[in-house]
Amino acid sequence: TTTSPRDQRGRALRDLRISVTDRCNFRCGYCMPRAAFGRDHVFLPHEALLSFEEITRAAAAALRLGVRKLRLTGGEPLMRRDLERLIAQLAALRTLDGTPPELTLTTNGVLLTRKAQALKDAGLQRLTVSLDALSPDMFQRMSDSQSEVGEVLAGIEAAQRVGLAPLKVNMVVQKGVNDGEILPMARHFRGTGIELRFIEFMDVGQTNRWDMAHMLPSSDVRALIHAQHPLQAVDAPRHSDTAERWAYADGAGHVGFISSVTQAFCGNCTRLRLSTDGRLYTCLFASQGHDLRSLLRDGHTDDATLTRSIAALWQGRTDRYSELRGLDHPGELPDAPRVEMSYIGG
Ligand code: GTP
Ligand code: 5AD
Ligand code: SF4
Ligand code: SF4
Repeated sequence: TTTSPRDQRGRALRDLRISVTDRCNFRCGYCMPRAAFGRDHVFLPHEALLSFEEITRAAAAALRLGVRKLRLTGGEPLMRRDLERLIAQLAALRTLDGTPPELTLTTNGVLLTRKAQALKDAGLQRLTVSLDALSPDMFQRMSDSQSEVGEVLAGIEAAQRVGLAPLKVNMVVQKGVNDGEILPMARHFRGTGIELRFIEFMDVGQTNRWDMAHMLPSSDVRALIHAQHPLQAVDAPRHSDTAERWAYADGAGHVGFISSVTQAFCGNCTRLRLSTDGRLYTCLFASQGHDLRSLLRDGHTDDATLTRSIAALWQGRTDRYSELRGLDHPGELPDAPRVEMSYIGG
């Protein structure tokens, strides 16, 4: 049977992350450094992008295999024109239980003030905003953009106002760069109901010149916060979560730590990624995708064939990149060029 396939390590398929554009209005150094994504960078042409109908069909097939959560990413997903129309189509789909899928999105927040209400009305449930600094200068340095941090903060408020909750904020920490922003960020979001999550700088892609020296371990970040605002571990993490959650002892809410470098979470990784141009990736660190677009565009593919093809891909999956890196077995790490995160989505 193709219902709820397991991969080679016994992991189920539960999340589909859909990249809707490879473009972004930021140039974060850890993701789309200007040296590699400058003026002459060639983005995907319009015909290469999956249409909303194609994305919806792919998502429906994944839902038939047990997917429960759909996340829209990019690039910057709010740069895709008429995104609300896609959200409405996805919101109308159903999981195997007959319930609507969890529908969420990761954005840099700049276009959020304008779009929050339309996203909510279309059926988006919640969202995650990426924000790496509060100080105006550090914000512009991290995003390598002319945007103002105030625009993102206003976007976060707009999202809260229209009820896109619970809201999360992701901060990528680069040691020696924005680590001075950890405490100001923690203080800013404490007691707001927004969950701030600190992400270890990862060696994703080929262009961000990652090195271990710029990776601040989550344990250090946690100690820094704990010294000012005591934290308590929260037991029973949800099964395939990327973040380990801690609670402020004084009841001011939660923070999370996403420690893909120091504490890999491949063991229960239930995530499949669909790139902007319709390739499926079974790992964030993959170098090869599996072409779904040809199947979607070949007039003869019925839904059962599409579903079977995704099931077969999942059943063959062995990926555990972060775990291997952590074990320090460089020999086992794939040496083919890794795909860029802006193209398959965070
Ligand atoms: P929610 O908790 O439901 O909001 O989903 P999530 O934990 O997947 O959150 P989100 O999509 O915001 O992911 C947070 C960050 O974790 C991403 O931006 C990535 O940096 C990292 N991440 C997400 N999935 C993976 C993964 O499968 N592998 C690795 N190594 N990192 C991941
Ligand atoms: N390391 C850690 N997180 C990253 N993101 C993008 N590139 C990296 C990286 N190299 C995160 C962003 C955002 C999401 C889209 O992915 O911070 O939250
Ligand atoms: Fe754009 Fe997000 Fe990548 Fe920054 S991390 S360049 S905002 S896609
Ligand atoms: Fe999943 Fe690959 Fe990330 Fe491991 S490294 S958690 S297998 S996406």
